[in-house]
Amino acid sequence: MSSGNAKKRILELNRLISAANVAYHGHDKPEITDSQYDKLLAELKELQKKYPQLVSDESPLDQIGAPINTAFSAVEHLEPMMSLDNAFEIEDLQAWNERVARGLDEDFSYITEMKIDGVACSLLYEDSKLVRAATRGDGKVGEDITANVMTISSIPAKLVETVPGKLEVRGEVYMDLSVFEDLNKSQIDAGLPTYANPRNTAAGSLRQKDPKVTASRKLSFWAYQIGHHSGDLPVDSHSAGLDWLGELGLPVNPERKTHKSFPAVEKRIGAGLELRNKLEYEIDGVVVKVDSFAQQQTLGATARAPRWSIAYKYPPEEKETKLLDIQVSIGRTGKATPFAVLEPVLVGGSTVQMATLHNADQVALKDVRPGDTVVVRKAGDVIPEVLRPVPAERPKGSKPWKFPVNCTSCSEKLVRPEDEAHTFCVNYACPSQQQSRIEYFTSRGAMDIEGLGESTVALFIEKGFLSDVSDIYSLHWDEISKLEGFGRISIDNLKRAIDESKSQSLSRLLVGFGIRHLGPTGAEALASHFGHLDKIKVATAEDIAAIEGVGPSIATSVSEFFAQKKTEIVLEKLRSAGVNFAGPEVVEVEQTLAGKTVVISGAVPGYSRTEAANAVKIRGGKSPGSVSAKTDYLVVGDNPGASKLNKAQELGIPVVVADDFESLLSKGEA
Ligand code: IVH
Repeated sequence: MSSGNAKKRILELNRLISAANVAYHGHDKPEITDSQYDKLLAELKELQKKYPQLVSDESPLDQIGAPINTAFSAVEHLEPMMSLDNAFEIEDLQAWNERVARGLDEDFSYITEMKIDGVACSLLYEDSKLVRAATRGDGKVGEDITANVMTISSIPAKLVETVPGKLEVRGEVYMDLSVFEDLNKSQIDAGLPTYANPRNTAAGSLRQKDPKVTASRKLSFWAYQIGHHSGDLPVDSHSAGLDWLGELGLPVNPERKTHKSFPAVEKRIGAGLELRNKLEYEIDGVVVKVDSFAQQQTLGATARAPRWSIAYKYPPEEKETKLLDIQVSIGRTGKATPFAVLEPVLVGGSTVQMATLHNADQVALKDVRPGDTVVVRKAGDVIPEVLRPVPAERPKGSKPWKFPVNCTSCSEKLVRPEDEAHTFCVNYACPSQQQSRIEYFTSRGAMDIEGLGESTVALFIEKGFLSDVSDIYSLHWDEISKLEGFGRISIDNLKRAIDESKSQSLSRLLVGFGIRHLGPTGAEALASHFGHLDKIKVATAEDIAAIEGVGPSIATSVSEFFAQKKTEIVLEKLRSAGVNFAGPEVVEVEQTLAGKTVVISGAVPGYSRTEAANAVKIRGGKSPGSVSAKTDYLVVGDNPGASKLNKAQELGIPVVVADDFESLLSKGEA
């Protein structure tokens, strides 16, 4: 990778990681999975190692967690709450062990503990009394969650023994699996949505405004670290420290062991994988720490994490469950996708009862059959996956599953095109396809018609009110008003939502058509390039592919979509209903700078750096960042770079002052 590309990627990684931190720590709503997050971190680390000159002052690798949410008051930790470095492969762990051994150059022992998948919390005891509890926040300042933590029954409000002065105890607040399952059962009974996983539920419960809600969530706590302490500690190692915390009445996880050698650590990590399935709470790895406090001191820490500890992260969890059935769903393009119906199982932090099997070949390859016991995997929020059957538990006489010959929705023959992995229902009038097409059209990212969701669409199709998206604009309201659940208010609301959708932007309308490969970005590009649906309709695949940001596969499927007779019919119905076909106005700009290269140095008044470059580009010119023999003009604004000016003078390139920039744009010459 060139240094320029590395710089771009580092900036992008910084942005992605910071956004992920805010979503995870700030809102308790992760937007990417743990393993995706870990991959971003690992990539950034690698790039920073290769290009140390590109490391920014605010690298997320030096930051912990995310800034705090203002709903709680801020508290400063007496000692920073650090994060841990991760090892994903045993080789990473071995390399860490070697660094530790080199750093100490004497005998030492390790302690291993479970890595609890919960929320870090710091408890402050003063003269044995719990006076404050805080989230980790950015590692230095956390949120004051004392009132909520006081409701966790296993956290003592007073220590059993007298400890004079201040003592910070760090640990993980978590939710037991059985508590999580009960909570979700009661959500289902109350007709409410279920919670995604124990970790986020614990985090959310801990940050409730009303401590009574926290209390009702039955959270638990394991202490795993001593933070600041005003007096001397009665212990000189981590393992003795944890024993001591236990004696003080704090809950300390019993699954901890000290090891004299590194092979014993490796063995423990292997055994932990077995143990993981038996524990009453979720773990995502094993934490290894150098035991002696003095040796921890010798090794020290980086800005983010101690050198004396590492977290070995386990791969995504796998669980066994029963494959009750294999069914086939028909999507909006007619694609027939087989999926597994499973006996519900809690895996990777959430309950899984369905998993895609992708296509006929995948089912054949895995040879999973209804009635089989199968191994299921789910990493974080990633789509669950059926990995393989357990042959020993296969019922006698079972036969390989066969892909249905006919569509499960309209009974027409299914077709598998040559060289295609997928099978399709090619009947455009298939109710399943109609359903998904219409649902897609009304969805939030497209025409956003509230009140026309899955069940209403299904009902209207069944009643014969809807067969394609254009029917939405000619619904028979007197018929609908006879249906149960469609009173005046809901009909008025639905009418209004449909009416409002007529003025949605052209790009949303394009998205709503559900054209293969065309997402919001491509739709935006089409809308602003052509400015009107009628122009897109007659554009060739080549015209479309020439637009920046639109690839050949989008171009082909867009032109195929508009070439269809049924598209024409739907479009005409939409047009007469008054649906907006116009995009943003397309302004034709004279190509005054076609073929010319204009470098800009310093600030041109009235333009940002990108705006000035864009002004050149939309007139057909190029605007690279440096001067070369190919440069036609150098525009010099406020505070220009000396090197660009020198180079331009050396090469005899005309220099244009910022005041003449406008005239350069309009005339194409200085
Ligand atoms: S020790 C300075 N021990 O994992 C060392 N952390 O990825 C501080 N965690 O922020 C952490 N179980 O929230 C430690 N047995 C354990 C842990 C543990 C879970 C969490 C903790 C930490 C995060 C780092």
